[in-house]
Amino acid sequence: MRVLQACAEIFPLLKTGGLADVAGALPPALRAQGADVRVLLPGFAPILGGLEGAVEVARLSPPAAMAATGARLLYGRLPACNVDAYVIDAPGYYHRAGGPYADAGHHPYADNHLRFALLGWTAAALAQGLDPYWAPAVVHAHDWHAALAPAYLRAAAEAAGRPVARSVYTVHNLAYQGLFDARHFAELGLPDHFFAMHGVEFHGHLNFMKAGLYYADRISTVSPTYAREIQGTEQGCGLDGLLRDRAHELSGILNGVDESVWNPATDTLLASHYDAARLEFKAECKSTLQRELGLEPAADKPIFCVVSRLTEQKGLHLVLQAVPTLIAQGAQFALLGSGDAGLEAAFRAAAEANPAAVAVKLGYDEAFAHRLIAGSDVILVPSRFEPCGLTQLYGLHYGTLPLVRRVGGLADTVADTRLETLDTDATGFVFDEFSAAGLLQAADRALALYRRSADWLQVQRRAMAQPCGWDVAASRYLALYRQIA
Ligand code: ADP
Ligand code: GLC
Repeated sequence: MRVLQACAEIFPLLKTGGLADVAGALPPALRAQGADVRVLLPGFAPILGGLEGAVEVARLSPPAAMAATGARLLYGRLPACNVDAYVIDAPGYYHRAGGPYADAGHHPYADNHLRFALLGWTAAALAQGLDPYWAPAVVHAHDWHAALAPAYLRAAAEAAGRPVARSVYTVHNLAYQGLFDARHFAELGLPDHFFAMHGVEFHGHLNFMKAGLYYADRISTVSPTYAREIQGTEQGCGLDGLLRDRAHELSGILNGVDESVWNPATDTLLASHYDAARLEFKAECKSTLQRELGLEPAADKPIFCVVSRLTEQKGLHLVLQAVPTLIAQGAQFALLGSGDAGLEAAFRAAAEANPAAVAVKLGYDEAFAHRLIAGSDVILVPSRFEPCGLTQLYGLHYGTLPLVRRVGGLADTVADTRLETLDTDATGFVFDEFSAAGLLQAADRALALYRRSADWLQVQRRAMAQPCGWDVAASRYLALYRQIA
């Protein structure tokens, strides 16, 4: 089956979050199960730079408002991602000084609706024969950036009087919807009647996410619990009604871990390698980390770590409040993150106040993320909401026990350690109440377990043995594609 994955970022070429990890891992996993997969990406400089053997497939002639860019479609291979790719070469849209979505001052680009409409439009054009040699039977669009693909496909089907290709739309985070002023709708070249409550209109605005949720043949999100949560008002971000209407076409498919990238036994970014049978080498990762960060070189002090975007979603102000208590109880704390200026400053101040026990690295650093997760004992993910979450999965796989809030994918992937679960399914620490006190109660249990080294080892080994590859998710996506194709 021919499947086109449309998304805005892909590991390792361009990554702002877990979306890129998924976009990089899913295509090879689908291919391993027999699918013929290609990806479609905007031509950001790192993506164009990674494209080998590029040939021009077509000059693009999108709706007039997007046409000014003189865009063309390239096809080639992204060896770093082990995937064949179509890349939209539109320098006017994608070669910019800032990030992929916003300028250096974090202001979203004013023409984002056009920059990403072009992505959805091109996906639909490929389904209609833009490349005479290959056309997808299923277009799988990810997040709001690619969410117009199902709308353009529906428009094409209405014009042709028959379906052109089927579509799946995956929500990675309902909080980022791609909301734009209504006047921009006219620039998209979609039929007028699409700007309606049963369509892309959302409280008088244009909503890209809603286009994906409304027009795709199947919709999914990245964990079963999040699939349920977003059907409620609290986490539905205003789209819960539509999600409830489509509940029978909505699935929750958990992300996996790309073991070619995240595996402590082979991780090329680590100085020492380990697995569940050779955990003494994890201790080496820990002492190396303590040296690197200037933390007290104490093998018996548990290191609690965070690797995260610093945003409201991630609940990190709870961590800030909890750090002094953790330190007083003999732990160390290390964070890698970037984002919210207030959180950055507060974490920096915490490190300056106690450099022997608290270390903070601000910025984005893929290699350090691996060293930090490998060298730590506990990884904190106290999110307010979490569609899936990947760092707790990396923690499990690296024997770095996750301490998480019971929400979204965190609830689906981490089993709390209690007396009654210790010998059966415990893999980490889970709390419910969104407060520093809630987090600290779970941390108390983590500290108590850490002092009982045989029990700690038992939980660590179980965590590391959890099945985590992409094969299960890939077979579930394939089943979805088969249902509709
Ligand atoms: P989200 O996509 O909401 O940010 P996930 O847990 O799904 O959360 O994915 C985050 C990804 O980004 C993980 O691969 C994590 O290791 C990585 N990451 C987050 N912050 C940083 C950082 N400052 N430096 C390096 N990697 C980071
Ligand atoms: C989003 C979510 C995160 C998820 C990731 C990949 O960024 O915030 O929970 O793991 O997408 O699906």
